[in-house]
Amino acid sequence: MRIDIITVLPELLSSPFEASILKRAIEKGLVEVHFHNLRDYSIGNYKQVDDYQFGGGAGMVLMIEPIDKCISKLKSEREYDEVIYMTPDGNTLNQGVANEISLKKNIIILCGHYKGVDQRVRDLFITREISIGDYVLSGGELAAAVLCDSIIRLLPGVLNDETSALTDTFQDNLLAPPVYTRPSNYKGMEVPQVLLSGDFPKIEKWREEKAMERTTERRPDLLK
Ligand code: 6GU
Repeated sequence: MRIDIITVLPELLSSPFEASILKRAIEKGLVEVHFHNLRDYSIGNYKQVDDYQFGGGAGMVLMIEPIDKCISKLKSEREYDEVIYMTPDGNTLNQGVANEISLKKNIIILCGHYKGVDQRVRDLFITREISIGDYVLSGGELAAAVLCDSIIRLLPGVLNDETSALTDTFQDNLLAPPVYTRPSNYKGMEVPQVLLSGDFPKIEKWREEKAMERTTERRPDLLK
């Protein structure tokens, strides 16, 4: 998979890709991530990428021309399956959306900023608009990092048995059961006996029960 991210703040985005699972996925060649600074496609001597909105009102709007230049250049080099715009008024990201996007070959992610982008960018280039939840972030960059993490960990070969995505919360619409590690007794707080029993069918059954219990208590909406 190849991901091209267009942003006015590449420095805000890079660090999540430089550690742990995402770093390893890139090093193994399982995903390519490229950052494109919108300013490199700006117009005029002032490197302008945003402007006041027509009709008046506070806040700057990302202009269509630099975005067009950047997306058109990328599209002239390869085919893209999706051009995703990160925006709080997009469809909310969930595991199903992450699973679906992880099957694509090449995607572009455009990060919104300030008041957003000129509507014509959305009309012309964007195939999918994604939000990561009902709260406002200063820009789409952190949301793009969240989206990329959720996609990349699903790519074949990224996770090993230890980190398998199959047992993740949400993968079967259930929250994950509680987990414990050593010591088995910490200041009188005991690990549930069944986990120390070595009886794996019984352990599996306990985990399923706990997952169901948690989901019923915390997220009954997932069971519908
Ligand atoms: Cl994708 N962008 C911004 N600016 N805020 C958000 C968001 C995206 N998702 C949730 N809040």
